[in-house]
Amino acid sequence: MTETMRAQWYERYGRPGGVLESRMIERPSPGPGQVLVKVHATSVQPLDWHLMTGEPRVMRVGMGLRRPSRNIPGADVAGTVESIGEGVTRFRVGDEVLGEVGGGGCAEYLAAPERRLVAKPDSVSFEEAAAVPVAGLTALQGLRDWGRQEAGQEVLIIGASGGVGTYAVQVAKALGARVTGVCSPRNVETARDLGADDVIDYTVSDYAATGRRYDLIFDVAGKKALSALQRLLVPGGTYVGIGGPKGPWVGPLPRVARMKVRSLFASRRMTFGIAAAKQEDLETLADLLGRGVIRSVIDRNYKLDETAAAVEYIGEGHAKGKVVVTI
Ligand SMILES: NC(=O)c1ccc[n+]([C@@H]2O[C@H](COP(=O)([O-])OP(=O)(O)OC[C@H]3O[C@@H](n4cnc5c(N)ncnc54)[C@H](OP(=O)(O)O)[C@@H]3O)[C@@H](O)[C@H]2O)c1
Repeated sequence: MTETMRAQWYERYGRPGGVLESRMIERPSPGPGQVLVKVHATSVQPLDWHLMTGEPRVMRVGMGLRRPSRNIPGADVAGTVESIGEGVTRFRVGDEVLGEVGGGGCAEYLAAPERRLVAKPDSVSFEEAAAVPVAGLTALQGLRDWGRQEAGQEVLIIGASGGVGTYAVQVAKALGARVTGVCSPRNVETARDLGADDVIDYTVSDYAATGRRYDLIFDVAGKKALSALQRLLVPGGTYVGIGGPKGPWVGPLPRVARMKVRSLFASRRMTFGIAAAKQEDLETLADLLGRGVIRSVIDRNYKLDETAAAVEYIGEGHAKGKVVVTI
């Protein structure tokens, strides 16, 4: 008899509340090199909102022109290994894992390649672990790789209080920076608690008008004019963008193109990156998490059948830390 499982499922583009439904579907079994994970928690990101609404529409070229090619949200998972496929060497049944799996986390079980998973530190909950992968990878790769951050640098993090920003503040500190965080007033204390040396409330102060210059700007929000941001860099400094305007058709693409043009002849580099699910980077994050060097800030915790509300909320763009779904 076919075994089934509960999952959150959508097969047309639209607002989460209108297209996402609870379904019983066939439980996957692990293929060669795959691990079957009993999912305990997942987290949602702005990308889940974009993939579900099909906006910006340019994304549909790669994600399904008429209907979405991905049906279950949730790229981050934390859970327990239920069974393993042929050739799996890193994990055994019963191991607790976390990982970045590209989608499918909003379900009771998930079959994932073992290279997308790492061991979950014992000291953190499944929710705290599920919050990390995409946001943590973006912060780590953005600062260390695209931004080439060095110890002692002045780093400005614009959007220091959301999913990516809360990890970015902690990772930048762990890499030895002096960090200035930008956020709204309700999050100033959180940014300070996470280690930001200075915090600027963007609703009352213009962080581009303080006269200070930075070696590295990590911009989660992507809202300020690039000309103003480039002027905030010291010569040889770097601006790293990861997000941008929401727009229904092309989203951040024009901004990304302008960054490239602005970098052509300038000593102040501007770059945009997309995080990659590298196992060694997940290992680094799990290690930092296990040693308490970084921690997850969880804004809201939803149940599986409340996933639509979770995705609506993340789509508003003002989460305070991560939005988690417990299975
Ligand atoms: N490139 C990649 O690989 C990658 C990976 C993950 C995410 N992203 C993108 O990065 C962006 C952020 O993702 P996230 O998960 O961190 O989202 P999030 O949890 O919704 O956080 C967004 C943050 O932006 C802040 N913000 C909004 N307007 C601002 C402004 N004018 N100035 C400064 N901060 C502002 C918000 O803070 P307040 O509530 O205080 O306003 C909020 O904390 C999204 O566009 C997402 O698609 C890209």
